[in-house]
Amino acid sequence: MKHQGHIFVHDFKPPQHIKRIIAVQLCSDSFFTSTMRRFDDFQIQTEIVLFKDSILTQAPNLWGVHSRPLRTTKPFSEYLDKDLFNELDESTGIVFIYNSAGQFKYLEEEQSIPWYFLIDIYEDLYRASQTNPCINVAFIDQNQHWKDWRDFYMVSSVRLPGSGKIVEVSAFMQERTKQFLVDQGYQHGDKGAFVEVGRLYGGSAVLFALGLKDSGSKNVLFSFDPVPQPYCQRYAKLYGVDNQIAFIDLTSVDGEVFWQAEDMPQITCLHIDGNHAYDFVLKDIQSWEKHLKPGGVMMFHDYGACGEMAGATNAIYESVICRQENWKAFDQIEGSFIATRR
Ligand SMILES: C[S@@+](CC[C@H](N)C(=O)[O-])C[C@H]1O[C@@H](n2cnc3c(N)ncnc32)[C@H](O)[C@@H]1O
Repeated sequence: MKHQGHIFVHDFKPPQHIKRIIAVQLCSDSFFTSTMRRFDDFQIQTEIVLFKDSILTQAPNLWGVHSRPLRTTKPFSEYLDKDLFNELDESTGIVFIYNSAGQFKYLEEEQSIPWYFLIDIYEDLYRASQTNPCINVAFIDQNQHWKDWRDFYMVSSVRLPGSGKIVEVSAFMQERTKQFLVDQGYQHGDKGAFVEVGRLYGGSAVLFALGLKDSGSKNVLFSFDPVPQPYCQRYAKLYGVDNQIAFIDLTSVDGEVFWQAEDMPQITCLHIDGNHAYDFVLKDIQSWEKHLKPGGVMMFHDYGACGEMAGATNAIYESVICRQENWKAFDQIEGSFIATRR
């Protein structure tokens, strides 16, 4: 018989053979304490793992006005004061208690929890747990609005237009927007270059690349982001599109300098989803629009927000909607604004 481990999501009812729990706190003290109380009934020895180091880099707020930096420079395990996975045995459970939407206090500073670390850990552990009985791990989220891991990853399906295949992709956008990206890749195939500003874990890049591949094109999406993410390559590989994405670790502005210097071809599809602050979006448009070929499509994510999040909305209004001598065919899909270059 094959022995399996257990991965628990949002809950942890330790199997009887668990005698010891190691808990990693990535949430507020109050949630952590109340979660740990659940184990009182099981007469289990509990241990708490501490961070050695601030989990975030000192990177500036790269998302602009509405978000804190969720950035790290080294693998999660290196932030812990013990090698968690060396501790695994059949009677030990590891519990990650985190807050996917909130902040937790570390060294007097409020910090956002880099929950995507957990995605990577989860994937590896999940696979290993199929055959390894020593893997008994729980992920308990303080912010339980996600029903399951599909929600957590923002996973939803897209249809590849050529082959008709249905594929599930995780990216920080809604379903119709995802499909639009795939369709753009498919329709524009070899008609010009593809550029993306802001990739995070590579979800949107994969969507474009899936469309390109499905069209039979060998074209490559150039994805610019100053912050390298180790998961991107791996994610692209999973979908067999790693050779159709060039991950370039430059800001939008530096990326454009590169584009100019290398005499790169005219762009048929440009996706802007980088820093959403007004000045940055304005600069993105000003830098890149000259490289967009007539009939080329520029698409902006997170359009339509108001108040202090309205940077992208205002910049798009001023430099695209009010400049109809340069732009036409405005459209909106969910939170994305789309314009075509005259
Ligand atoms: C909203 S995320 C992108 C999400 C991604 N497009 C997706 O759908 O999966 C924004 C990204 O923009 C990047 N970014 C911030 N400032 C930037 C800049 N000046 N140039 C390029 N990328 C930038 C951030 O590092 C972050 O990864």
